[in-house]
Amino acid sequence: MAKDKGTYYISTPIYYPSSNLHIGHTYCTVMADAMARFKRLQGYDVMFLTGTDEHGQKIQLLAQEKGVSPQEYVDEVVAGIKDLWKTMEISYDDFIRTTEDRHIKRVQAMFMKMYEKGDIYKGEYEGWYCTPCESFWTEAQLVDGKCPDCGRPVTKAKEEAYFFKLSSYADDLLKLFREKPEFLEPESRRNEMIAFIEQGLEDLCISRSTFDWGIPVPIDEKHVIYVWLDALTNYITALGWPDEPEKYEKYWPADVHLVGKEIVRFHSIIWPAMLMSAGLPLPKQVRGHGWLLMGGEKVSKSKAAKGLDVIDPVVLIDRYGIDALKYFLLREYTFGQDGTFTNEVMLKRLNYDLANDLGNLVSRTVSMIEKYNGGFVPDLTEEGRCRDEVDYDAQLKEVALGAAPKVEKNMDDFKFNMALEEIWILVRRANKYIDETMPWALAKDEAMKPRLDNVLHNLAEAIRIISILIHPYMHTTSDAIRKQMGLWYSDVAWEDAFTFEMMCGEQVKKGKAIFPRLDIEKELEELYKIGAETAAAKGADVNIPLELKDEIEYDDFDKLDLRVGTILSAEKHPKADKLLVFQVKMGTEKRQIISGVAEDFKPEECVGQKVVVVANLKPRKLRGLESKGMLLFADNVVDGKERCEFVTTRADDGNPVT
Ligand code: MSP
Repeated sequence: MAKDKGTYYISTPIYYPSSNLHIGHTYCTVMADAMARFKRLQGYDVMFLTGTDEHGQKIQLLAQEKGVSPQEYVDEVVAGIKDLWKTMEISYDDFIRTTEDRHIKRVQAMFMKMYEKGDIYKGEYEGWYCTPCESFWTEAQLVDGKCPDCGRPVTKAKEEAYFFKLSSYADDLLKLFREKPEFLEPESRRNEMIAFIEQGLEDLCISRSTFDWGIPVPIDEKHVIYVWLDALTNYITALGWPDEPEKYEKYWPADVHLVGKEIVRFHSIIWPAMLMSAGLPLPKQVRGHGWLLMGGEKVSKSKAAKGLDVIDPVVLIDRYGIDALKYFLLREYTFGQDGTFTNEVMLKRLNYDLANDLGNLVSRTVSMIEKYNGGFVPDLTEEGRCRDEVDYDAQLKEVALGAAPKVEKNMDDFKFNMALEEIWILVRRANKYIDETMPWALAKDEAMKPRLDNVLHNLAEAIRIISILIHPYMHTTSDAIRKQMGLWYSDVAWEDAFTFEMMCGEQVKKGKAIFPRLDIEKELEELYKIGAETAAAKGADVNIPLELKDEIEYDDFDKLDLRVGTILSAEKHPKADKLLVFQVKMGTEKRQIISGVAEDFKPEECVGQKVVVVANLKPRKLRGLESKGMLLFADNVVDGKERCEFVTTRADDGNPVT
């Protein structure tokens, strides 16, 4: 059991339940989950909080459009969000919804604290409002007259409102950034915030009276609390502040609020000022991450219809597994910077790192231990066993023992990608070790058995360490590896990554490949289709290539003699339910043609139909009746359903179709 290192409180933003979440949202939650699991493994008592931000005009409007109450609307979306986190095995300790009573009463308590301090006054608000972002902007803040965050149009707003005296905290905030630079990382974000404050802070509108989907202002029932005061306070209401302060006293101040870059301002200026006003301690740190981009734009719900890369995390998880998606998100992107998401980048990462590097290392090692040592990790602690060490061994051991401290260092800096890279340096070193030591050659010489044992043992040690190191990021894979290595009975303990002397006689057992190799071309096609279909379903104008049989030559086509005919009569085949027997007239000729379309058409609706006939098809008997030629049909998609239709024409019967 890891020793108790104290508490660690990490939060994600609370998500707007306006519609289902996409891969951009999962990015932040996956990082927070990895950090929470990492800290737990290190022995911290972790509080990992996430939740949903459910009030505001936008939700009210969406509910109206759908003809349901705002509460019904959010209940449904929130259920989906919780399902998603369950599917992704997100290990949160609490999920706060801003519509819960525990939150509502505590937000009101926060309002009263700030009010009693003399920091809240009634005034009149005049400015620009962006409904989707729920943000007020001053004239000067607009970009080309539009919302500076999302670029959408803003509307003029003027109303009576309560204000928070944010401006009077400007000096305290500047002091905070100067004296505790670690409060906001990375540095570039901090400099932006300092510049923002130095421009002059305006007081903050904290109530609205033109809609009512919000928490009532305790001193004025005409007003509801405007979203940011409501939302930000979640970080302490979930801890029971102020009426049930046990958890609050244990975990507050938070170690880190993990947030996207566009909401850093709210977390590093407004939130600390609110806490200062209420006389409460500030969080230790705010960390701003970059965005996932697609086609140069932020992945977002409103742009989902345009893109053809798959942004629904559930689709990706169904195909590749939770660990693959988590690994990709954590490994591919640099914390703090934007990064582009494409199916291709993802698939390559999964194949190279997971199937080739990690998957191969485990399967090769387990196979060799089975083949050369009866399925048992050689026990070098047995009396009389020699333990030689040549260069390769020393190098492998050095990389293996050096990995955990490097992972720790990178995790302290939120460099998830570098932490994983350090682990993969070990994975690749171990693969190289196999090539260098060539166990299959050692196995040919009985005299080399002690050396072979040494090599297999070292590989098993390296994999054992890897299974611990990857645990916070991909615990299912870690468990699968430990099971194959005969380690399933022992708990994963971080301290065990600091020793190279633990494996002794474990029985290994080959399981199925932990990451099967993907056929990238095929997967790309499949994902493209799914993305395009989703986009098409949302009304986007897409160009989806059809799935076709092999190409043919012109000469093949030229062999067909196509004619126009008219159906004179149609009846069911007496001996086959699926067949219709047609009498067709083509010019002067009348003939019988049989087609398998009885499930698609009633005989009477076919009579008089103009049809295109493959007139030179070799005649054949179908259940005792002769069919001479073939009528052409084609599949069409109408209102999302496939339907069989006649290939028809306006030409007179008997004319060749050209
Ligand atoms: N409700 C507020 C947060 C209140 S916190 C007290 C909110 N919600 S949100 O649903 O719009 O966004 C939640 C988080 O998702 C933000 O941190 C945002 O940066 C993140 N992301 C949304 N799209 C994203 C990407 N395409 N890429 C990365 N993160 C993205 O803001």
